Amino acid sequence: MATLLRAAPISQRIVEDLTQKCAELKKSGTTPHLQVMLVGEHSPSLIYTSNKKKFMEKIGATCDIHKLPADVSEEEFIRDLKRFANDKNVNGLFVQLPLPKHLSHLDVGQMVPYEKDVDGFHAQNLYAIMAGDTGQKALVPCTPKGIITMLKEANIELEGKKAVVIGRSMIVGKPMMLLLTNFNATVTLCHSRTKDLQRVCQDADIIIAAIGRAKFLDNSFLSPQKNQILIDVGINHDENGNVCGDIDQDSVMDFCEILTPVPGGVGKMTILSLGENLIKATENQIGKLK
Ligand code: GUN
Repeated sequence: MATLLRAAPISQRIVEDLTQKCAELKKSGTTPHLQVMLVGEHSPSLIYTSNKKKFMEKIGATCDIHKLPADVSEEEFIRDLKRFANDKNVNGLFVQLPLPKHLSHLDVGQMVPYEKDVDGFHAQNLYAIMAGDTGQKALVPCTPKGIITMLKEANIELEGKKAVVIGRSMIVGKPMMLLLTNFNATVTLCHSRTKDLQRVCQDADIIIAAIGRAKFLDNSFLSPQKNQILIDVGINHDENGNVCGDIDQDSVMDFCEILTPVPGGVGKMTILSLGENLIKATENQIGKLK
């Protein structure tokens, strides 16, 4: 039976650490402020941004969600984004994705200044992990950062391990591949066109599933004698409308060593990483001004 690697106990330590750092920043005259831009009424985005705001307030930071109507003009959207980018009271800034179709061509990751880029999507932050940073210098994309935190907290050694990442998105798969490489894992990045995915997964020590398909990965992808570690990035709904991951948890439970649950796993870590990025961005900005 697998051990469930949950976010809650890790969360407690990180919340305490961030709350203390936030109090120190406040004492020195700066309350970390996160500015969110939200366009339209996409319901998961409404929930995610509200959870992000609640978390920032819990650690003592402030957070404003700037809501724009779904049919906002490109001109108005860019004008507001530039205003926040140039506002010295904004320490962290991100645009909640997805954007409505008429704005989706905009590369918002490059429009947010890299030093406020708490999403870690700016080319300068992505280049840092391309160049070998493990998150010491750069603001690192939140979900991969949260997964590394989970693996470290569970004392899972990455050096020399075979890691398989399924999904090649810019938000999760590709930065995850780079971070794992920087921690000396040997990484295979798989995707929808990968041939013989089951065989590739059977050979892995660690599998990170970021596919976006409910209960996609079952025990036919595993080798029980390898004591594999399974990280589930998915947030989907099953046929009964219940939240589930990309991994069929019932199917794999007796076939792996460690498994992250959904809910209560990676999703929660993503918000913790956002908090860490906000505090880091604020600290860097203050250091710069000194
Ligand atoms: N939508 C879903 N995940 C994310 C994320 O990590 N950042 C932003 N900006 N939007 C998202």
